Amino acid sequence: MKKILITGGAGFIGYHLSSRLAAEGHQLTLADNFFRSRHDADLAGLLALPNVTLLEADLTKPESWEQVGTGYDEVYHLVGINGTKFFYEIPHEVLRIGVSTTMNVLEWFRTKNNKPGAKILYTSSNEAYASGFDLGIVPLPTPETVPLIIADMYNPRWSYGGQKLIGELFFIHYAKAYNFRMAIVRPHNFYGPRAGYEHVIPEIVGRVSAKVEPFPIFGADDTRSFCYISDAAEAIQRVMESEKTDGGTYHIGTTEETGIKELIENIFSLMAWRPAKLDIKNSPEGSVKRRLADVSKIKEDTGWEAKTPLEEGLRKTIDWYLAHPKP
Ligand SMILES: NC(=O)c1ccc[n+]([C@@H]2O[C@H](COP(=O)([O-])OP(=O)(O)OC[C@H]3O[C@@H](n4cnc5c(N)ncnc54)[C@H](O)[C@@H]3O)[C@@H](O)[C@H]2O)c1
Repeated sequence: MKKILITGGAGFIGYHLSSRLAAEGHQLTLADNFFRSRHDADLAGLLALPNVTLLEADLTKPESWEQVGTGYDEVYHLVGINGTKFFYEIPHEVLRIGVSTTMNVLEWFRTKNNKPGAKILYTSSNEAYASGFDLGIVPLPTPETVPLIIADMYNPRWSYGGQKLIGELFFIHYAKAYNFRMAIVRPHNFYGPRAGYEHVIPEIVGRVSAKVEPFPIFGADDTRSFCYISDAAEAIQRVMESEKTDGGTYHIGTTEETGIKELIENIFSLMAWRPAKLDIKNSPEGSVKRRLADVSKIKEDTGWEAKTPLEEGLRKTIDWYLAHPKP
């Protein structure tokens, strides 16, 4: 049994990762301030387990860390302001919260956690390199070695990628300076139940349920690689638990590139409804046309690869969202 801290533990990835780790009998603390997540029935079920504790705290505040305790074997640092609309609306907060919680968790880990051999994992993002696509310096599939870059400092969208770039630097150089174990993961478009309502899939499911006509499609030709959350949570856990990954950075995603229009057509057929007319719109400024991770490194070092076919993952996701419409 390990003692594990999950910052942002009530969020999308946090909930699914915690459910996995709790089922294995580990002692978990989920730290979250509910900026984005909610006290819903799923979370209540998780918190009803005897080995799961919630600490409701704003982790940007250094004093919150006094309540976290010590002696954790593993720390998953998941806090971040996810959701593209926030990047555009509150870029200054995306930066402040991302950077301050990362500095706080690292300072706490090196000075207070006090557990020999403990490991800490950072969830970065493909957004930390994505603005390099238009400059022609990001190959597809994209390996971990690609330069991290902010191509346009004045586009608020890159506030999110910027704080992830800074976070990676902090993790790498703190771990070297203070000699502790760490790994970085870069999730690539995870999807599934309880992902919030600001993601592309829940938005489409909501519009299909409301039978919106004409049906708007943003960035129809853009592509993404969608990775189902149960596969993603397993990948993150494997990176944490392997010694081979210490000090390394790992892309997590699938090898399948899916067009947004193709994704939407899939949802239409799974939900057995099709609009009479489509309204094709441009994607927001700064949106990246294609994304596909090179995931050979995680496979080689941990044996992980995504298993869930898109149609199966979409079916489970649609079912959850139909049962939990936007409040
Ligand atoms: N989901 C993806 O596909 C994806 C892709 C790339 C990167 N990531 C990164 O993975 C991490 C987890 O993502 P997610 O999809 O679960 O997002 P999420 O928004 O569901 O989870 C983040 C959690 O952090 C919490 N939080 C925010 N500010 C906080 C604060 N000051 N103190 C305490 N808690 C705070 C939120 O309430 C939320 O529960 C994030 O750092 C995100 O940037 C996710």
